[in-house]
Amino acid sequence: RAVKASACVSFVLLCLLVGCHGVDRSQFPPSFLFGTTTSSFQIEGAYLTGNKSLSNWDVYTHIPGKVEDGSNADVADDHYHLFMEDVESMEDLGVNSYRFSISWSRVLPQGRYGETNPDGINFYNNLIDALLQKGIEPFVTLNHYEHPQVLEDRYGSWLSSEIQLDFAHFAEVCFEAFGDRVKYWTTINEPNMFTYYAYFEGTYPPGHCSYPVGNCSTGDSFMEPYIATHNVVLSHAAAVEIYRNKYQAKQGGMIGIVISAPYYVPLTNTPADKLAAERALAFQIAWFLDPIMYGDYPPEMHQIIGARLPVFSAEERKKLSNKLDFIGINQYTAAYAKDCMFSPCTSAYSLGESMVYVTGEKDGTLIGDTTAVSYFYVVPSALEMAVMYVKERYNNTPMFITENGYAQSNAPIADSLNDTKRVEYFKSYLSALVNAMRKGADVRGYFIWSLLDNFEWLDGYTIRFGLYHVDFDTLKRTPRQSAKWYKNFLADSNSTT
Ligand code: NOJ
Repeated sequence: RAVKASACVSFVLLCLLVGCHGVDRSQFPPSFLFGTTTSSFQIEGAYLTGNKSLSNWDVYTHIPGKVEDGSNADVADDHYHLFMEDVESMEDLGVNSYRFSISWSRVLPQGRYGETNPDGINFYNNLIDALLQKGIEPFVTLNHYEHPQVLEDRYGSWLSSEIQLDFAHFAEVCFEAFGDRVKYWTTINEPNMFTYYAYFEGTYPPGHCSYPVGNCSTGDSFMEPYIATHNVVLSHAAAVEIYRNKYQAKQGGMIGIVISAPYYVPLTNTPADKLAAERALAFQIAWFLDPIMYGDYPPEMHQIIGARLPVFSAEERKKLSNKLDFIGINQYTAAYAKDCMFSPCTSAYSLGESMVYVTGEKDGTLIGDTTAVSYFYVVPSALEMAVMYVKERYNNTPMFITENGYAQSNAPIADSLNDTKRVEYFKSYLSALVNAMRKGADVRGYFIWSLLDNFEWLDGYTIRFGLYHVDFDTLKRTPRQSAKWYKNFLADSNSTT
């Protein structure tokens, strides 16, 4: 016993001296959701099975040159056929929740122009039932970057107000079919990312360019990112209104949205750079959350974009206000923000029209360790600061960390499985989360991106985020060190891992 006690004292002393990320399950409330997360397009495969139609991403990834390794997600992890194995992996991990998304083109292949597809409904019913049988709470995203191509062809998807009708219809079909068992809904995943890449940079479908950034040499329209966002927030509000009016009371769930929330640190202590960091956060986060909490775009944007920002009617403002039961935060990293309003910049368009230049480097030093995604630096405090920003700006609306994860490049399997850096990443980010919660942030869950290696959008299969390694030739799943660590962490409520 004396040996144990002295080991314990030395451990605490070591922590005080060099710092450590001691974090354990008991630092979180018992009701806290701990899960893993995926999205339909990135894992399901079976892209034409069971009467599914083509999604915008199916079509886009079949255009040569769009994806880094020339791959597509026709098969991906074949989760459509292997979902039971994946549910069993989650049971083995001991998670109490799983965040996944519903493929719109599987459930409504023709959008609101056609019938609901029974095969699609069956697939998600089977998945939801299997999860619940294992005591895993489904946490469902309605739209994770993809929609039926028919909505693109008919009216240009997010660029038309018609999308609001289609999205509301899709949401209602899902509430009706699954809402008896699903208690956590999010409408749209990272609209701030996909509208940027789809309409600013031209790298996501439909590949429209607004500014001379990314793939763009000439602009398609200086308005498209703003129009698409306008339709995103109104579509969200339409779905929430239906849920609140017809389903919430009888089904007893919550509904929110998921936003990508990198944190921005001023590059220098000058007032201009401090304002730049504020603007960066407003253009990244508040552009989407201010309207659905307060009924209008953030003042920081009005100041710069002025009359080009679409205007909400009085009726729309009312419809929008207070349309969040919770906020989903996807948090991976931070960057420095440099002012471009009062001083010259290499590129003034690194974060839309915010007049901020974003960089990971200051005086030759990087903001954090690098990962396989060039701009995903390891900055654990970013999680704490992003949560505190959202807490302050939105009156401590309940929050879930809907994604957090570490990217690896392809490597021989033995190295790939030995992902000690990923384990360190999780420990340090969870410690930062504990700090935010101690400061009063109402955070109710944490989801690791991702359960499995999967199709990483433009990077295809070259970037791996999984707790489970996937061999994309055989589809064999193998738990990494990080999976074993998560399992221990979830099982052991007292030990400091
Ligand atoms: C954000 C997206 O929601 C997800 O689809 C993506 O794979 C991860 N982050 C990692 O980049």
